[in-house]
Amino acid sequence: MSIYTTLKKASTRPLPFEHYTAKDLWNDPHISEQMLQYHLSPDLDLASRNPEFIDRSVAWMAKRCGITPGKTVADFGCGPGLYAERFAKLGVQVVGIDFSESSIAYARSEAAEKDLPIDYRCLNYLDYDSNEKFDLITMIFCDFCVLSPVQRSRLLSIFHRCLKDDGLLVLDLFSQHGFEQQKECSVYERNQLNGFWAKEDYYCLQNTFKYEQEKLLLNKFTVITENDDVREVYNWLQSFTPETVRAEFARSGLEVVDCYGNVAGDDYSQNSGEIAVVVRKKR
Ligand SMILES: C[S@@+](CC[C@H](N)C(=O)[O-])C[C@H]1O[C@@H](n2cnc3c(N)ncnc32)[C@H](O)[C@@H]1O
Repeated sequence: MSIYTTLKKASTRPLPFEHYTAKDLWNDPHISEQMLQYHLSPDLDLASRNPEFIDRSVAWMAKRCGITPGKTVADFGCGPGLYAERFAKLGVQVVGIDFSESSIAYARSEAAEKDLPIDYRCLNYLDYDSNEKFDLITMIFCDFCVLSPVQRSRLLSIFHRCLKDDGLLVLDLFSQHGFEQQKECSVYERNQLNGFWAKEDYYCLQNTFKYEQEKLLLNKFTVITENDDVREVYNWLQSFTPETVRAEFARSGLEVVDCYGNVAGDDYSQNSGEIAVVVRKKR
């Protein structure tokens, strides 16, 4: 591909959710190892939040949702099990679901070492077809927002099927206020994020697109390595307000009971960068 064609393709705005590259992002051998380091770094809130926040979050979710020993929790997109382990230490039965092989391998070895009976499953949560029922389902770090409307509707029907009648779902979402703070931009950088994208030397072209009508953000990364490999990664982020999340969940038979500023139960305000919701089945 000529330089002109590569640059033109990199700066082309796709249709909303035209490409889904999550699997490449989380399962590429090199990138997923880098991601794992980000998850585990206590100083970087890039793939997971910091340990103090996670401690506070699990304590709050357990209290808010009445999660006591023997109850069941499913963590969708559990990553290396940072929340799952803390729930298991409370005597809860935990299922962790994630399609990143390196995260699940790490989570399993940690659980074995700490003697925590966590059931980790390496699979795409959009294909989760079990009929198990849980007291609490979690999905944390705004992972719901990377999905298209069709994928979100599919996932909500999975949540609906897997929640006990009095069970609760807790997840966090990118807020419309957060969306409004973002600007469209185009940058290029050699070895962006210190070798995150490839083992070899590379240039990364990052284009940020805003879709005003849909209130949708896209960070599109085009990585060109010294071997002339070109890879595109699409990082979609759908933003929500309390009203839009209520309406979307209601269409899947789910009711938002409360909104917070994060999954540690801090207050929600118009200026919050995210919205955390506690959800139950419609009665
Ligand atoms: C931003 S990370 C958050 C991880 C974890 N919830 C935390 O906060 O520490 C998103 C996680 O979701 C997983 N993931 C993304 N899409 C997925 C899918 N379709 N099926 C299963 N896991 C997925 C990724 O592998 C990654 O571990």
